[in-house]
Order: sequence, then structure tokens, then C-alpha cells
Amino acid sequence: MSEPSTKELLNVAVKAVRTAGKHALSNRVRRNEVIMRDTHDVKLALDVECQKIATAVIADFFPEHKVLGEEDTTVTTQQKALHDNQNRAKNESSQNQDYEWIIDPIDGTVNFSHGMRQWCCSIAVRRQNRILAGAVYGPELDELYTATADGPAMLNGETIKVSACSELKDAIVCTGMDKNVTPEIPPFALFRAIAGNTQKARIMGSAALDLCHVARGEVDAYFETGIYIWDVAAAGLVIEQAGGQTAVMRNLPDARLMYMASNGRIHDALTELINTAAAND
Ligand code: IPD
Repeated sequence: MSEPSTKELLNVAVKAVRTAGKHALSNRVRRNEVIMRDTHDVKLALDVECQKIATAVIADFFPEHKVLGEEDTTVTTQQKALHDNQNRAKNESSQNQDYEWIIDPIDGTVNFSHGMRQWCCSIAVRRQNRILAGAVYGPELDELYTATADGPAMLNGETIKVSACSELKDAIVCTGMDKNVTPEIPPFALFRAIAGNTQKARIMGSAALDLCHVARGEVDAYFETGIYIWDVAAAGLVIEQAGGQTAVMRNLPDARLMYMASNGRIHDALTELINTAAAND
């Protein structure tokens, strides 16, 4: 059987994000149907439904492909991510041959649950540890970001580019509040360092959308102390194809990533700022 092209993979990712995103949008009145509440997090019935919907779209086209999704009805997110990472490491040679779809059905769930508009559905597909295509759809903002590994980054079909900002002091840097605070990487110390050395630090609440806003050039960088692969897989490709740079700064024990992405021009300066602040705290 011939391999799908990146364009074919992207078309399916777009269909899946649109279908899942529209389901969440048309069911906004059910945004308080909570299935799990944590101090800084919430899981909604719609998270699970949207992941099922996206998975079904993908399975229609590629029934043999694997799926790694944020939501799972039987184990917690962290357990699932850990389990998947352990399995991946064990079976690296065989798994590397496989296509794997990475789904965040509602990124910015807390925003969504409050009726804020900054949330999205994010889907990427990778093979041999390389992201081949990704789509991020923010239904309430009417923003569809797309990219393939061999094509341009786009917003609603128009090519986008990262900003030209070359100095930290002129930059807007978005960040997020890690759900699980890691003592050795204190998010507030890093937030303080970023806020004190840039024009503005912002926390908007949907990492995938924030990253796409870096790709589109209205934000200059994104950093988070602990984030998951499904938050960054699609949007990271969008940034790279828009001319920016991404980096996993640390792999944390529970499958979280200390992650940074930027327009490229301020990448080294921001990396140094973060590393210095983390070392000095
Ligand atoms: C979260 C959001 C948030 C970021 C968290 C993510 P979720 O994703 O992207 O902005 O700070 O680290 O986990 O849980 O809403 O899909």
C-alpha cells in the first residue's frame, strides 16, 4: 500500500479538528458537565466526546494508525502519557514505523468551561518521531492553523510568518501555569524573569493557540515549565513552518516537557534567561 502524502494527512487532520471543534462549539451549553475536577484543571464530558469524534474521523481514513489522545476514560492523563512513553521507549524500533495521531480535543479546557473563547482542537500526525502534518482549530476565533513538514504554515489558507522582533525587551512572551508544579522548576520564578525582561508576559490559557499566535507573528515566543506532547505537537510544526524555532528544554519524569518556541530571533536570549533564572532560584 502506498504511503499517504503529507497533504492527505493534513486533510484528515483538518477534517478531524473541524468536526471535533464544531461538536464542542455547538454543545457549549454543556460546558459545565464536569467528569473530573482538580485544583487547577477540569475534565469535561465534551473533552472525551470530542476525542472520540476526532478518532473516528481519523479511523475512517487510516484504521491501522495509532492514536495518542489527551483524554482517556479509564486512566488519568499522566498515567496514560507515562504508559505511552514507556511503551514507546521499549518498542522504539517497531513503533517508529507507525503513524501516530496526537490529539488534544479541547486545548484550553478551563477557558472553555468558563465560556472564554480561547480554546481549540489540536491534531498532529507523526512517524519516526517526525511530525508530518498538524492542524489547530479555534472555532470561536474562526482560526484554522495548518502546516505540513514540507509546506508553509497557514492561517485560514493564507501563509503566515513569525515576527521580526529581535530583542527580548520588545517581545511579548506567552506562558502557561503548569498544572503540576515541579519543585526544581518553579514557574513563578521563571514568570518573574520573563515578565521583568520582556515588554510583556501573558497567560492566555490555551498553549496550542498561543503557539499558533507565535507562528502568525503577533506573539514572539511561548514558554512553559511542564506541558504535554498533545499541547504542542501540531502548533510546534506550524511555528517551524512559519520560520520559527521550537525546543524541548527538558524531559520531565511524568512525560511532561519543559518547552519553548519562538520566532527564532529571540530564541537564544530567551533560552539563556530561562536557564539562568531556573539555576538561580
Ligand atoms: C492546557 C492549556 C494551558 C497550559 C496547560 C495545558 P488543556 O491544556 O494549554 O494553557 O498552560 O499546560 O495542559 O488541559 O486545556 O488541554
